[in-house]
Amino acid sequence: MQIKTLGVIGAGQMGSGIAQVAASAGLQVVMNDVKDEFIDRGLAGIEKSLGRMTKKGKISEEDAQAVLARIEGSTSLDDMVKADFVVEAIVENEEVKREVFRKLDDICNEGVVLSSNTSSISITRIASATGRPDKVIGMHFMNPVPVMKLVEIIKGLATSEHTFSLTKDLAEKMGKIAVPANDFPGFISNRILMPMINEAVYALFEGVGTAEDIDQVMKLGMNHPMGPLALADLIGLDTCLAIMEVLHKGLGDDKYRPCPLLRKYVDAGWLGRKSGRGFYVYE
Ligand code: CAA
Ligand code: NAD
Repeated sequence: MQIKTLGVIGAGQMGSGIAQVAASAGLQVVMNDVKDEFIDRGLAGIEKSLGRMTKKGKISEEDAQAVLARIEGSTSLDDMVKADFVVEAIVENEEVKREVFRKLDDICNEGVVLSSNTSSISITRIASATGRPDKVIGMHFMNPVPVMKLVEIIKGLATSEHTFSLTKDLAEKMGKIAVPANDFPGFISNRILMPMINEAVYALFEGVGTAEDIDQVMKLGMNHPMGPLALADLIGLDTCLAIMEVLHKGLGDDKYRPCPLLRKYVDAGWLGRKSGRGFYVYE
């Protein structure tokens, strides 16, 4: 099937980034969220990102306008009937994702692949909420989506080879490099990244260093583009906690226990950049 229209569920930082790169690759996009204000925020983020790119001469003003014109906002999941392929990028919660996949299975045309941008949750379990587990797959983009080259592709137990190759081709059409990973908690990326971030939070919790010093050590000493605590703020501390919980429960090893300080920040609503405060304070 030729993919002309991409459905994106969730207009947060990942959903809006995915919508942007898809529209930049010439696809029509239907971007869904639960409220108009979330769609507006997503579109504003896309405009800002395209603005950066036009300022740097990477794309013309005209092309940026054409990208925006290809993205249609929607607050009704029923609009996914227009989609030839769907990427879900809503909150990192298994029950909420399974419910959305169950509805998508009813709404979307037969043959449409339903993919999830989940950071850690079992693709096999998400797929089992649908009647088309052979057409459910993990399509894991990295943040910020317009900049990062990787898309991790994860087959569930029943995912077909055809679904895998369709997803890989789509990732490449969107200018990304696809790397396969098997369906284990956190896949490859977050099996390795998130314990490092969690350990940085423990280092802060136990007073090994200040947030600034922990980040400086990893930037200057290990050449990381940003420190682990600043990166946690970029990802969202709610998402980091949800991923650690999936690793802890799914792998059953206490080395993955989420740091109590991470839990406390999330309880306080200090979610990082998206709430204006995390390990750092943002304007
Ligand atoms: N849209 C478009 N372009 C953007 C952008 C955006 N949202 N954000 C940054 N850029 C561009 C800039 O315009 C700039 O372009 P040029 O190189 O052409 O000048 C380039 O990216 C670098 O940006 P900046 O100079 O503003 O800032 P920087 O050099 O500090 O880079 C960064 C910013 C790319 C975010 C860099 O700090 C970085 O790579 N950080 C680590 C990101 C990372 O690890 N991501 C993975 C997170 S984990 C994940 O995503 C998986 C999960 O499940 C949690
Ligand atoms: P976010 O909080 O920025 O956005 C989530 C969006 O989903 C919100 O706008 C919310 O209103 C919307 N939403 C929630 N329930 C919905 C529903 N039932 N229907 C439609 N929209 C709904 O989160 P994010 O950072 O964009 O993360 C989204 C997904 O991507 C998560 O699964 C996360 O683990 C994954 N992910 C995140 C990152 C990251 O760095 N933040 C990287 C890779 C993957």
